[in-house]
Amino acid sequence: MNQKGKRVGIVGAGNVGATVAYSLAMQGSCHEIILRDNKVDVAKGKALDMSQAAAAIRSHTVVTVAEDMSELTDCDVVVVTAGSPRLPGMSRDDLLMTNAKITKEVAKGIAKYSPNAIIIMVSNPLDAMTYVAMKESGFDRSRVIGMAGILDSSRMASFIQEKLGYGGGQIRASVMGGHGDDMVPLPRYSTVAGVPLSDLLSPEEIDEVVERTRHGGAEIVSYLKTGSAYYAPAKSTAIMVDAILKDTKQIHPCAVYLDGEYGYRDVVSGVPVMLGANGAEKIIEVTLNEKEQAMFKKSCDSVYKLIKTLNENNFFGE
Ligand code: LAC
Repeated sequence: MNQKGKRVGIVGAGNVGATVAYSLAMQGSCHEIILRDNKVDVAKGKALDMSQAAAAIRSHTVVTVAEDMSELTDCDVVVVTAGSPRLPGMSRDDLLMTNAKITKEVAKGIAKYSPNAIIIMVSNPLDAMTYVAMKESGFDRSRVIGMAGILDSSRMASFIQEKLGYGGGQIRASVMGGHGDDMVPLPRYSTVAGVPLSDLLSPEEIDEVVERTRHGGAEIVSYLKTGSAYYAPAKSTAIMVDAILKDTKQIHPCAVYLDGEYGYRDVVSGVPVMLGANGAEKIIEVTLNEKEQAMFKKSCDSVYKLIKTLNENNFFGE
Protein backbone atom coordinates (compact mmCIF):
# COMPACT_ATOMS: atom_id res chain seq x y z
CA MET A 1 0.00 0.00 0.00
CA ASN A 2 0.96 3.56 -0.68
CA GLN A 3 3.12 5.30 1.94
CA LYS A 4 1.67 8.68 1.06
CA GLY A 5 -1.81 7.60 2.07
CA LYS A 6 -4.55 5.65 0.39
CA ARG A 7 -5.48 6.66 -3.15
CA VAL A 8 -8.71 5.62 -4.79
CA GLY A 9 -9.23 6.18 -8.51
CA ILE A 10 -12.71 6.40 -9.95
CA VAL A 11 -13.10 5.97 -13.69
CA GLY A 12 -16.37 7.48 -14.80
CA ALA A 13 -17.55 10.48 -12.80
CA GLY A 14 -21.22 10.26 -13.74
CA ASN A 15 -23.96 9.72 -11.18
CA VAL A 16 -22.59 6.45 -9.80
CA GLY A 17 -18.89 7.39 -9.88
CA ALA A 18 -19.43 10.81 -8.35
CA THR A 19 -21.66 9.40 -5.63
CA VAL A 20 -19.03 6.74 -4.81
CA ALA A 21 -16.50 9.56 -4.49
CA TYR A 22 -18.83 11.56 -2.28
CA SER A 23 -19.55 8.55 -0.03
CA LEU A 24 -15.84 7.84 0.33
CA ALA A 25 -15.05 11.48 1.05
CA MET A 26 -17.74 11.58 3.74
CA GLN A 27 -16.56 8.27 5.22
CA GLY A 28 -12.96 9.51 5.36
CA SER A 29 -11.87 6.15 3.94
CA CYS A 30 -8.88 7.48 2.02
CA HIS A 31 -6.56 10.44 1.58
CA GLU A 32 -7.11 11.11 -2.08
CA ILE A 33 -9.89 10.34 -4.53
CA ILE A 34 -9.00 10.85 -8.18
CA LEU A 35 -11.79 11.25 -10.69
CA ARG A 36 -11.22 10.32 -14.32
CA ASP A 37 -13.84 11.17 -16.91
CA ASN A 38 -13.79 12.20 -20.56
CA LYS A 39 -15.83 15.21 -19.48
CA VAL A 40 -12.81 16.72 -17.73
CA ASP A 41 -14.46 20.01 -16.75
CA VAL A 42 -17.44 18.28 -15.19
CA ALA A 43 -15.04 16.08 -13.23
CA LYS A 44 -13.10 19.18 -12.12
CA GLY A 45 -16.26 20.88 -10.93
CA LYS A 46 -17.39 17.81 -8.99
CA ALA A 47 -13.91 17.35 -7.49
CA LEU A 48 -13.81 20.92 -6.19
CA ASP A 49 -17.34 20.63 -4.83
CA MET A 50 -16.52 17.38 -3.00
CA SER A 51 -13.20 18.62 -1.62
CA GLN A 52 -15.14 21.53 -0.18
CA ALA A 53 -17.72 19.15 1.33
CA ALA A 54 -14.82 17.23 2.90
CA ALA A 55 -13.45 20.49 4.32
CA ALA A 56 -16.90 21.22 5.78
CA ILE A 57 -16.72 18.06 7.88
CA ARG A 58 -13.02 18.69 8.69
CA SER A 59 -12.02 15.60 6.72
CA HIS A 60 -8.51 15.08 5.38
CA THR A 61 -9.77 13.65 2.08
CA VAL A 62 -9.08 15.60 -1.11
CA VAL A 63 -10.73 14.96 -4.46
CA THR A 64 -8.67 15.59 -7.60
CA VAL A 65 -8.95 14.91 -11.34
CA ALA A 66 -6.88 12.79 -13.72
CA GLU A 67 -7.10 14.41 -17.16
CA ASP A 68 -5.89 11.18 -18.72
CA MET A 69 -5.54 7.54 -17.61
CA SER A 70 -1.77 8.14 -17.39
CA GLU A 71 -2.42 10.44 -14.41
CA LEU A 72 -4.29 7.73 -12.54
CA THR A 73 -1.11 6.43 -10.94
CA ASP A 74 -0.36 4.30 -7.89
CA CYS A 75 -3.95 3.83 -6.79
CA ASP A 76 -4.69 1.26 -4.11
CA VAL A 77 -8.19 0.74 -5.45
CA VAL A 78 -9.72 1.77 -8.77
CA VAL A 79 -13.49 1.78 -9.15
CA VAL A 80 -14.75 1.50 -12.73
CA THR A 81 -18.17 2.94 -13.46
CA ALA A 82 -17.42 4.07 -17.02
CA GLY A 83 -19.89 3.03 -19.68
CA SER A 84 -23.40 3.64 -20.86
CA PRO A 85 -26.14 3.32 -18.25
CA ARG A 86 -29.42 1.50 -18.76
CA LEU A 87 -32.34 3.35 -20.22
CA PRO A 88 -36.00 2.33 -19.98
CA GLY A 89 -36.70 -0.86 -21.94
CA MET A 90 -33.03 -1.86 -21.99
CA SER A 91 -31.63 -4.87 -20.20
CA ARG A 92 -28.18 -4.72 -18.68
CA ASP A 93 -27.08 -7.16 -21.40
CA ASP A 94 -27.95 -4.68 -24.17
CA LEU A 95 -24.91 -2.71 -23.05
CA LEU A 96 -22.51 -5.61 -23.64
CA MET A 97 -20.41 -4.60 -26.67
CA THR A 98 -20.31 -0.85 -25.97
CA ASN A 99 -19.26 -1.23 -22.37
CA ALA A 100 -16.88 -4.15 -23.03
CA LYS A 101 -14.80 -1.92 -25.35
CA ILE A 102 -14.67 0.84 -22.76
CA THR A 103 -13.81 -1.65 -19.99
CA LYS A 104 -11.02 -3.15 -22.07
CA GLU A 105 -9.32 0.21 -22.58
CA VAL A 106 -9.75 1.20 -18.92
CA ALA A 107 -8.46 -2.16 -17.61
CA LYS A 108 -5.33 -1.90 -19.74
CA GLY A 109 -4.79 1.64 -18.45
CA ILE A 110 -5.15 0.55 -14.83
CA ALA A 111 -2.71 -2.31 -15.35
CA LYS A 112 -0.19 0.14 -16.78
CA TYR A 113 -0.50 3.07 -14.40
CA SER A 114 -1.76 1.52 -11.15
CA PRO A 115 -0.32 -1.99 -11.41
CA ASN A 116 -0.88 -2.79 -7.74
CA ALA A 117 -4.49 -1.66 -7.60
CA ILE A 118 -7.52 -3.72 -6.78
CA ILE A 119 -10.22 -3.11 -9.38
CA ILE A 120 -13.87 -2.83 -8.40
CA MET A 121 -16.15 -3.11 -11.43
CA VAL A 122 -19.51 -1.40 -11.42
CA SER A 123 -20.34 -1.03 -15.13
CA ASN A 124 -23.01 -3.27 -16.63
CA PRO A 125 -23.53 -6.01 -17.57
CA LEU A 126 -21.67 -6.36 -14.31
CA ASP A 127 -20.52 -9.98 -14.31
CA ALA A 128 -19.34 -9.92 -17.93
CA MET A 129 -17.55 -6.59 -17.38
CA THR A 130 -15.77 -8.03 -14.34
CA TYR A 131 -14.65 -10.93 -16.56
CA VAL A 132 -13.41 -8.50 -19.24
CA ALA A 133 -11.55 -6.37 -16.68
CA MET A 134 -9.81 -9.44 -15.29
CA LYS A 135 -8.77 -10.76 -18.68
CA GLU A 136 -7.62 -7.39 -20.00
CA SER A 137 -5.78 -6.22 -16.88
CA GLY A 138 -4.04 -9.57 -16.50
CA PHE A 139 -4.60 -9.23 -12.73
CA ASP A 140 -5.13 -12.21 -10.48
CA ARG A 141 -8.81 -12.93 -9.91
CA SER A 142 -8.52 -11.83 -6.28
CA ARG A 143 -7.85 -8.29 -7.52
CA VAL A 144 -10.82 -7.81 -9.83
CA ILE A 145 -14.15 -7.76 -8.00
CA GLY A 146 -17.61 -6.79 -9.19
CA MET A 147 -20.10 -4.82 -7.12
CA ALA A 148 -23.63 -6.22 -7.20
CA GLY A 149 -24.38 -8.51 -4.28
CA ILE A 150 -24.31 -5.78 -1.64
CA LEU A 151 -26.68 -3.72 -3.78
CA ASP A 152 -29.06 -6.56 -4.54
CA SER A 153 -29.18 -7.75 -0.93
CA SER A 154 -29.76 -4.19 0.28
CA ARG A 155 -32.65 -3.91 -2.13
CA MET A 156 -34.06 -7.19 -0.86
CA ALA A 157 -33.65 -6.00 2.75
CA SER A 158 -35.49 -2.79 2.00
CA PHE A 159 -38.34 -4.68 0.30
CA ILE A 160 -38.58 -7.03 3.31
CA GLN A 161 -38.77 -4.02 5.62
CA GLU A 162 -41.49 -2.47 3.46
CA LYS A 163 -43.49 -5.69 3.45
CA LEU A 164 -43.16 -6.24 7.21
CA GLY A 165 -43.53 -2.64 8.29
CA TYR A 166 -40.82 -3.17 10.92
CA GLY A 167 -37.35 -4.59 11.45
CA GLY A 168 -35.41 -1.84 9.68
CA GLY A 169 -31.68 -2.05 10.32
CA GLN A 170 -32.00 -5.65 11.56
CA ILE A 171 -32.46 -7.35 8.22
CA ARG A 172 -29.83 -9.58 6.68
CA ALA A 173 -30.88 -10.46 3.15
CA SER A 174 -28.87 -12.68 0.89
CA VAL A 175 -28.60 -12.59 -2.91
CA MET A 176 -26.17 -14.66 -4.96
CA GLY A 177 -25.61 -15.24 -8.67
CA GLY A 178 -25.18 -12.72 -11.44
CA HIS A 179 -26.46 -9.15 -11.41
CA GLY A 180 -29.19 -9.83 -13.94
CA ASP A 181 -32.81 -10.86 -14.10
CA ASP A 182 -31.67 -14.37 -13.14
CA MET A 183 -30.06 -13.29 -9.88
CA VAL A 184 -30.60 -15.66 -6.96
CA PRO A 185 -32.26 -14.11 -3.90
CA LEU A 186 -31.97 -16.56 -0.99
CA PRO A 187 -34.88 -16.19 1.45
CA ARG A 188 -33.59 -19.28 3.27
CA TYR A 189 -30.51 -17.29 4.24
CA SER A 190 -32.37 -14.09 5.04
CA THR A 191 -33.27 -13.10 8.58
CA VAL A 192 -34.72 -10.25 10.62
CA ALA A 193 -32.90 -9.93 13.95
CA GLY A 194 -31.91 -13.55 13.49
CA VAL A 195 -35.52 -14.70 12.88
CA PRO A 196 -35.89 -16.69 9.64
CA LEU A 197 -37.89 -14.85 7.00
CA SER A 198 -40.22 -17.85 6.64
CA ASP A 199 -41.42 -17.27 10.24
CA LEU A 200 -42.41 -13.71 9.40
CA LEU A 201 -43.76 -13.72 5.84
CA SER A 202 -45.97 -16.11 3.90
CA PRO A 203 -44.51 -18.02 0.93
CA GLU A 204 -46.48 -15.72 -1.40
CA GLU A 205 -45.10 -12.61 0.28
CA ILE A 206 -41.58 -14.02 0.07
CA ASP A 207 -42.10 -14.71 -3.65
CA GLU A 208 -43.15 -11.10 -4.13
CA VAL A 209 -40.00 -9.87 -2.36
CA VAL A 210 -37.86 -12.17 -4.53
CA GLU A 211 -39.48 -10.97 -7.77
CA ARG A 212 -39.23 -7.32 -6.80
CA THR A 213 -35.54 -7.79 -5.89
CA ARG A 214 -34.82 -9.33 -9.31
CA HIS A 215 -36.28 -6.26 -10.99
CA GLY A 216 -35.15 -3.72 -8.40
CA GLY A 217 -32.84 -1.94 -10.85
CA ALA A 218 -35.47 -1.77 -13.60
CA GLU A 219 -38.06 -0.40 -11.15
CA ILE A 220 -35.81 2.61 -10.53
CA VAL A 221 -34.93 3.03 -14.24
CA SER A 222 -38.65 3.17 -15.02
CA TYR A 223 -39.04 6.17 -12.71
CA LEU A 224 -35.80 8.00 -13.52
CA LYS A 225 -36.20 7.45 -17.28
CA THR A 226 -32.83 8.96 -18.23
CA GLY A 227 -30.58 6.55 -16.35
CA SER A 228 -30.30 4.01 -13.57
CA ALA A 229 -29.97 3.95 -9.80
CA TYR A 230 -26.94 5.48 -8.14
CA TYR A 231 -27.29 6.09 -4.40
CA ALA A 232 -27.46 2.42 -3.39
CA PRO A 233 -24.99 1.25 -6.08
CA ALA A 234 -22.53 3.91 -4.93
CA LYS A 235 -22.87 3.21 -1.22
CA SER A 236 -22.49 -0.52 -1.87
CA THR A 237 -19.28 0.21 -3.78
CA ALA A 238 -17.98 2.47 -1.02
CA ILE A 239 -18.55 -0.36 1.49
CA MET A 240 -16.32 -2.62 -0.63
CA VAL A 241 -13.59 0.03 -0.97
CA ASP A 242 -13.66 0.58 2.79
CA ALA A 243 -13.42 -3.16 3.54
CA ILE A 244 -10.35 -3.40 1.31
CA LEU A 245 -8.59 -0.26 2.56
CA LYS A 246 -9.26 -1.11 6.20
CA ASP A 247 -8.48 -4.80 5.67
CA THR A 248 -11.66 -5.73 7.55
CA LYS A 249 -11.73 -9.40 6.46
CA GLN A 250 -15.52 -9.22 6.48
CA ILE A 251 -17.77 -11.25 4.22
CA HIS A 252 -19.72 -9.44 1.51
CA PRO A 253 -21.52 -10.80 -1.54
CA CYS A 254 -19.39 -9.83 -4.57
CA ALA A 255 -18.96 -10.89 -8.19
CA VAL A 256 -15.75 -12.87 -8.68
CA TYR A 257 -14.21 -15.20 -11.23
CA LEU A 258 -15.03 -18.78 -10.32
CA ASP A 259 -12.39 -21.43 -10.78
CA GLY A 260 -14.17 -24.56 -9.62
CA GLU A 261 -16.13 -23.06 -6.72
CA TYR A 262 -19.78 -24.09 -6.78
CA GLY A 263 -18.83 -26.37 -9.69
CA TYR A 264 -18.26 -23.51 -12.18
CA ARG A 265 -15.18 -22.40 -14.06
CA ASP A 266 -14.24 -19.50 -16.30
CA VAL A 267 -17.26 -17.43 -15.39
CA VAL A 268 -17.98 -14.55 -13.01
CA SER A 269 -20.85 -14.76 -10.54
CA GLY A 270 -21.94 -13.34 -7.22
CA VAL A 271 -20.91 -15.32 -4.14
CA PRO A 272 -19.96 -14.49 -0.55
CA VAL A 273 -16.39 -13.23 -0.48
CA MET A 274 -14.07 -12.28 2.37
CA LEU A 275 -12.65 -8.85 1.53
CA GLY A 276 -9.33 -7.60 2.82
CA ALA A 277 -6.25 -5.64 1.81
CA ASN A 278 -5.53 -8.20 -0.91
CA GLY A 279 -9.00 -7.98 -2.42
CA ALA A 280 -11.16 -11.08 -2.62
CA GLU A 281 -9.08 -13.09 -0.19
CA LYS A 282 -11.44 -16.02 0.17
CA ILE A 283 -14.51 -17.32 -1.61
CA ILE A 284 -17.06 -18.84 0.75
CA GLU A 285 -19.04 -21.83 -0.48
CA VAL A 286 -22.60 -21.80 0.84
CA THR A 287 -24.67 -24.98 0.84
CA LEU A 288 -27.43 -24.60 -1.73
CA ASN A 289 -30.45 -26.87 -2.03
CA GLU A 290 -31.51 -28.31 -5.38
CA LYS A 291 -33.80 -25.44 -6.28
CA GLU A 292 -31.16 -22.85 -5.37
CA GLN A 293 -28.52 -24.73 -7.34
CA ALA A 294 -30.79 -24.73 -10.39
CA MET A 295 -31.28 -20.96 -10.06
CA PHE A 296 -27.54 -20.42 -9.64
CA LYS A 297 -26.91 -22.51 -12.76
CA LYS A 298 -29.41 -20.49 -14.77
CA SER A 299 -27.73 -17.30 -13.62
CA CYS A 300 -24.21 -18.57 -14.51
CA ASP A 301 -25.53 -19.75 -17.88
CA SER A 302 -26.66 -16.25 -18.78
CA VAL A 303 -23.20 -14.88 -17.97
CA TYR A 304 -21.58 -17.69 -20.02
CA LYS A 305 -23.78 -16.61 -22.91
CA LEU A 306 -22.45 -13.04 -22.76
CA ILE A 307 -18.85 -14.27 -22.61
CA LYS A 308 -19.60 -16.48 -25.61
CA THR A 309 -20.89 -13.48 -27.54
CA LEU A 310 -17.68 -11.61 -26.75
CA ASN A 311 -15.61 -14.58 -27.93
CA GLU A 312 -17.66 -14.91 -31.13
CA ASN A 313 -16.87 -11.26 -31.84
CA ASN A 314 -13.15 -11.99 -31.31
CA PHE A 315 -13.24 -9.47 -28.51
CA PHE A 316 -10.35 -10.90 -26.49
CA GLY A 317 -8.05 -11.43 -29.47
CA GLU A 318 -7.92 -7.81 -30.63
C1 LAC B 1 -29.06 -1.40 -11.02
C2 LAC B 1 -28.14 -1.18 -12.18
C3 LAC B 1 -27.13 -0.19 -11.84
O1 LAC B 1 -29.23 -2.55 -10.63
O2 LAC B 1 -27.57 -2.39 -12.58
O3 LAC B 1 -29.59 -0.41 -10.52
